[in-house]
Amino acid sequence: MQQKISELLDSAKLQIESAKDEASIEQLRVAYLGKKGEITAILKSMKDLAPEERKALGAKANEARATIENLISSAKDTAKEAAKSIRFAAEKIDVTEPAKAISLGKKHMITQTIEEISEIFASMGYSVTEGPEVETVFHNFDALNAAPNHPSRDLTDTFYITEDTLLRTQTSPVQVRTLQSTKPPIKVISPGRCFRADSPDATHSPMFHQVEGLLVDEGVTMADLKGTLDYFAKKMFGADVVTKFRPHFFPFTEPSAEMDMSCFKCGGKGCRVCKGSGWIEILGCGMVHPNVLEVGGIDTEKYTGFAFGMGVERIAMLKHGIEDIRLFYENDLRFVNQF
Ligand code: DAH
Repeated sequence: MQQKISELLDSAKLQIESAKDEASIEQLRVAYLGKKGEITAILKSMKDLAPEERKALGAKANEARATIENLISSAKDTAKEAAKSIRFAAEKIDVTEPAKAISLGKKHMITQTIEEISEIFASMGYSVTEGPEVETVFHNFDALNAAPNHPSRDLTDTFYITEDTLLRTQTSPVQVRTLQSTKPPIKVISPGRCFRADSPDATHSPMFHQVEGLLVDEGVTMADLKGTLDYFAKKMFGADVVTKFRPHFFPFTEPSAEMDMSCFKCGGKGCRVCKGSGWIEILGCGMVHPNVLEVGGIDTEKYTGFAFGMGVERIAMLKHGIEDIRLFYENDLRFVNQF
């Protein structure tokens, strides 16, 4: 029996030493010390021994149990520590590693251009207002003095929603809404989307943007209009540009004009940007027609005003040398990120 005990002790030592993980150590504990374990069996068999033998062997067996218990518990501790360091090694993070770059995105060229235009007019005391994209025929055409047979009213040119509503073809209806809701002095610009039934090509898009401007006050003259828009052109395209005003027709202004500016690229000599003419057409403008002021209930004996409208895409294309309007709407990041 004594020999059996020391054999068990030896084999337990060997097995515990070579057990690597907690689970196999636990198996050994069960095998030696569990209810049906080998040491347990020996301890149980003590009751069959003679008292003096029991005493000596009992002490040996208890000693063996204690030794195995200690070995198992320290082996478990070691295995736990080993498992922990493996886990820590796997979970280790390098706090010095540079973080992944966060992309903040970019303002679209159209937004940037609208903001640039707005800032120039804001510096002259204009506030920014917006109107609906789905407009009434009244605000888009009638109130703007457009003749009943004006070609732009045609079903083939304008997207009608119903007989009386449409997708606005210009930002000019915001003039009417402003005149109806505000008393002079009025000084506003209004950027926004417009829609026309145009087939897309390099210079046309069925959806595009305009910035409208309206100023109404006592004693406003064409000189105020010219000074304001000349200042805008210089701020937007460079202090060297000069402007000229060409007579034109718009139903809602009288007189009406188109403003051209000297080519900011060649200085007026003639180049690709100005198509050889030295001049670039930049916007439409004029003195607000009394019929339009009257829609807003404005006393036309007392007040006069001027208005203007410009294409945002056209200005952005000129300024940044963009040759196809469709690039604005394709959302190709290679295009968007250039600006
Ligand atoms: N609404 C005109 C257009 O779409 C542009 C324009 C011209 C606006 C003259 C104005 C203006 O306010 O006075 O072609």
